[in-house]
Amino acid sequence: MLLSTVTALLTYLLTTFTHDDSHESPILRFELRQYHAVSSAAHVLFHDAPPAPESLRPQHTLGTRLIRSRRPSSLAALSDARARSRKYAESVPIDWDDDDVIGPDVESRETLLEIAKMTNNAYLEPAEAGWYDLGGGWNVTYPVGWEPDADGFRGHVFATPDNSTVVLAIKGTSAGFVGGGGPTSKKDKFNDNLLFSCCCARIDWTWTTVCNCYRGGWKCDQDCLEEALIEESLFYSIGTNLYNNITYMYPESNIWIIGHSLGGALASLLGVTFGAPVVAIESPGEKIAAGRLHLPSPPEVQQHITHVYHTADPIAMGTCNGVLSSCALGGFAMESRCHLGRSIVYDTVTNLSWAVDIRKHGIVNVIEEVLSHPWPPAVEAGREVPEAKPEEDCVECFSWDFGDYPP
Ligand SMILES: *[C@@H]1O[C@H](CO)[C@@H](O)[C@H](O)[C@H]1NC(C)=O
Ligand SMILES: *[C@@H]1O[C@H](CO)[C@@H](O)[C@H](O)[C@H]1NC(C)=O
Ligand SMILES: *[C@@H]1O[C@H](CO)[C@@H](O)[C@H](O)[C@H]1NC(C)=O
Ligand SMILES: *[C@@H]1O[C@H](CO)[C@@H](O)[C@H](O)[C@H]1NC(C)=O
Repeated sequence: MLLSTVTALLTYLLTTFTHDDSHESPILRFELRQYHAVSSAAHVLFHDAPPAPESLRPQHTLGTRLIRSRRPSSLAALSDARARSRKYAESVPIDWDDDDVIGPDVESRETLLEIAKMTNNAYLEPAEAGWYDLGGGWNVTYPVGWEPDADGFRGHVFATPDNSTVVLAIKGTSAGFVGGGGPTSKKDKFNDNLLFSCCCARIDWTWTTVCNCYRGGWKCDQDCLEEALIEESLFYSIGTNLYNNITYMYPESNIWIIGHSLGGALASLLGVTFGAPVVAIESPGEKIAAGRLHLPSPPEVQQHITHVYHTADPIAMGTCNGVLSSCALGGFAMESRCHLGRSIVYDTVTNLSWAVDIRKHGIVNVIEEVLSHPWPPAVEAGREVPEAKPEEDCVECFSWDFGDYPP
C-alpha cells in the first residue's frame, strides 16, 4: 500500500471513530481539474480546467465508506497471464491483493445522485446547457488541436482540494441510442457492437458485421473474436493509458472511476485491472468483454465494482436485441447482460410501472426520475438504495456455440 493511502486510511478511521456519530463517514468535496479526450492518433490528451474564483467553482460532495478492493498483485503478472491465456489458451493463476480503500458510499442515495451528475457532465462542455451545478466561471471551449470527438472517449477529472482522492469520469455512448447522436457515435457504435454482441453483431444476414468470426448456424470462432477485440478496438488499451496518465499526474492519490453506459463498462474493466473503486451507471453487461480481453477473474466477487441500473433500461438489462428492437434498428447489437462486481438494481418496471424503453437508458432520466427521490421499496427495507448484489447464475449468449472454427 502506498504510504499516502495508509495516511488517508488513518485519517479516515480517526475522523470516523472520533466523530460524535460513529456512523457518519467523511464527506469529500471534488473540484473539476481536467478534461480528457482522445486524439485521432489515439493519444490521451488532457486540458486543465481554467482557474476560477472559489465561489464560482462547481463542486461535488460525495459520501465515503471503506470498501474491500481486490486487484492483481502485479500488473506485469496480469499482463503475462493475459498473453498466455490468449496465445496458448493456458490459464495462469495469479495472486490477488486485498486492501481496504476509501470508496464512494454506494449505500447513500445522495452520493449516487451526485456521481450520476458527474458522469452526465462528462458528455458536455461546461458551457453547454445541461451541465449540472454550472458555476459562472466555466465558459470555456476546447482549444485548437483538441479533438474531443475523434474517438469515443472523453470526460473529466475531479479531485479533492488536497488531491487525496481523484475521480475519473468517462463519457459513454453518445445519443445514438436515444436519438440525436453527436460526432462520437460512429466510433461508439463500432466499440459497442464488438464488446456487447455475442458474435460480431451478426443479427441477421442484412447486417454488416464488425468482425468476421461468424461461421454459419450459431457457430462463432472464439479466437477470432478475441483477436478482433484486441487488435481493432482501442477500447481497453486507451482506457489503461488514460488510467496510467492519471496515476502519473496524481501519483499519491486514491483514484475512483465512474461512467455511464459504455463509459461505465470501461470504468469497470479498468477497476478490475487496477483495483480502483468504480460506480458504473446503466452499463451494458461487460463480463463477456472482460473474458474476451482475457482479464483474469478473482475467485471472489469484486466488491469495489458497483453497478447501478434499472429494469426498464434494455441496454443494461441486455434485452435490446432481436431484429426489430430499437437497438437493432439503430444499428446496435446489445446482447450481453451479465455484470461484474455487485449491482444495485432499481425495479422501475415493477414499482413505477415503466415500460422497457431505450429512452430510459439516458443519464438524465436516471438522475431526474430514479435517483432524485427516495426509492420506496428501499425505504421500506430501511435503506436508501436497493441492496448491491452479485449477479449469480447470470447466463448470456446461450444460443451461440463458441469454439475453434477456423474460416
Ligand atoms: C461564453 O463565451 C462566448 C465567447 O467567448 C460568449 O459569446 C458567450 O456569451 C459566453 N457565455 C456566457 C454564458 O458567458
Ligand atoms: C493537485 O494536483 C494539481 C494537478 O492537477 C496540482 O497543480 C496541484 O498543485 C496539486 N495540489 C496539491 C495540494 O497537491
Ligand atoms: C499517457 O500515457 C501514455 C502511455 O501510457 C504516454 O505515452 C503519454 O505520454 C502519457 N500522456 C500524458 C499526458 O501523461
Ligand atoms: C412500490 O414500492 C412501495 C414500497 O415497497 C409499495 O408500497 C408500492 O405499492 C409499490 N408500487 C407498486 C406499483 O408496486
